[in-house]
Amino acid sequence: MGLSLQDHGGTVLLEDGRALALRDLLPLRDLPGASLRIAAATRAGDQLALQLSDGTTRTAAIPGRTRTAADLILENIGQLLTLEDDGVGARARASLACRDGHVLALADGGAALAVERDEHTLVLDARGGVVTPGLIEPHSHPVFAGERSREFALKAEGRSYLEIHNAGGGILSTMRATRAASFEELARACARNLDRLLAWGVTTAEGKSGYALELEGELRLLEVMRSVSRCHPVALVPTLLGAHALPPEHASRRDEYVRLVCEEMVPRAARDGLARYCDAYCERGAFTPAEVEQIFLAARAHGLGLKLHAEQFSDQGGAALAARLGAASADHLEAISAEGIAALAASRTTAVLLPGAALASRCPWPPARALLDAGVPVALGTDLNPGSSMTASLPLMMSLACMQLGMSCEQAWRAVTVEAARSLGRPELGRLHPGAPADLALFDAPDYRYIPYHYGENHLRLVVKDGQLAHERPRR
Ligand code: NIG
Ligand code: FE
Repeated sequence: MGLSLQDHGGTVLLEDGRALALRDLLPLRDLPGASLRIAAATRAGDQLALQLSDGTTRTAAIPGRTRTAADLILENIGQLLTLEDDGVGARARASLACRDGHVLALADGGAALAVERDEHTLVLDARGGVVTPGLIEPHSHPVFAGERSREFALKAEGRSYLEIHNAGGGILSTMRATRAASFEELARACARNLDRLLAWGVTTAEGKSGYALELEGELRLLEVMRSVSRCHPVALVPTLLGAHALPPEHASRRDEYVRLVCEEMVPRAARDGLARYCDAYCERGAFTPAEVEQIFLAARAHGLGLKLHAEQFSDQGGAALAARLGAASADHLEAISAEGIAALAASRTTAVLLPGAALASRCPWPPARALLDAGVPVALGTDLNPGSSMTASLPLMMSLACMQLGMSCEQAWRAVTVEAARSLGRPELGRLHPGAPADLALFDAPDYRYIPYHYGENHLRLVVKDGQLAHERPRR
């Protein structure tokens, strides 16, 4: 007792409030891999029995005092993006120190960091690279089985997304594969998708269910996310997407399915703490605004935040509905009307734009400029999913935003950091200042604008999550 494992930190939380990471418990030289994390821990007196993410077990003594020295120092940073104020807050010739999972101090202009260091402090040389807050993925579908490259080929030959969907492909083909997969298979697939996001610099991701489309199956997908998130550095913000498509067994009983979502899925997901948000797909062939409203009212009554797949292919008035019901975000928006933009501008709802889905589905680009000019906060996501956007590259979304959506480099960086964090109700993330969570990414690039400019290439060198080295690309 008196001991718990933090959900997405891989850190042991003691009764005195101290959060102990693996490197606080074992000397660095005893750790075979930088991304090794604690999967489970039990306490016997002053000893901890640790089960590690590679399947091995260790014992460690609980340290008697809180360290005053920094855990990690990043030196020789060419450019540090703090994301303060309205711009990106670029600081030249910088360094940064972390302790206990938070930023301890920053320095720039070549000044020295005024922090203590000792033999446990990990000092990393950024070699003049760009350090940014860990990227925030505001919209992804990371738990599914199978893949849909054959549909990709059909689309390349001219078939539309809706044609494929109406012929039993699309979401329903992934639903069949997902229903047939075991918990372990889905957990492995989800972990692989989180690995992919991490490898592009993501430290927190929203993740949706939506490929089971039945009560126990949707809850199982949320449980998969919870279980994977416990021993993966990428923190997941889980979303119930029971209303992603109408499952075939309810084809002639729509009302019954909507009732199932409202009266069983939403209450169970909320009661068991399995979801923070509820999402729905408002589109021809999916759910009507009236059905979405019923689902959203139930979700709101159970304390879930709201997100909506809106105006992807046609204007259904989804953005205005999302704004009216106080949704955290309205996502896609390729086909949004002027009224929809005005409704978002009058609300606190973030527009989450998904240029990868627009690209792969051959949609018009979402009107980022008009949204920004109207004062709507804009975030960018990959929409990572097996159908309309099979990518985990958030930097590629920044490139598309700058090259095709009319966004500036600064707006694109804000869209994958502060704005994405805001759309997930996590405003403490996506910026770097003393006291902020120590989630950051280091890119081998001379300038932050270089990252969207040199597109298609992964410039990421390493990721720090909760003050610990979570991912390091092998040296090139
Ligand atoms: O965000 N639009 C609906 N949902 C996904 C596509 C899911 C799929 O095709 O499997 C999207 O684009
Ligand atoms: Fe989506």
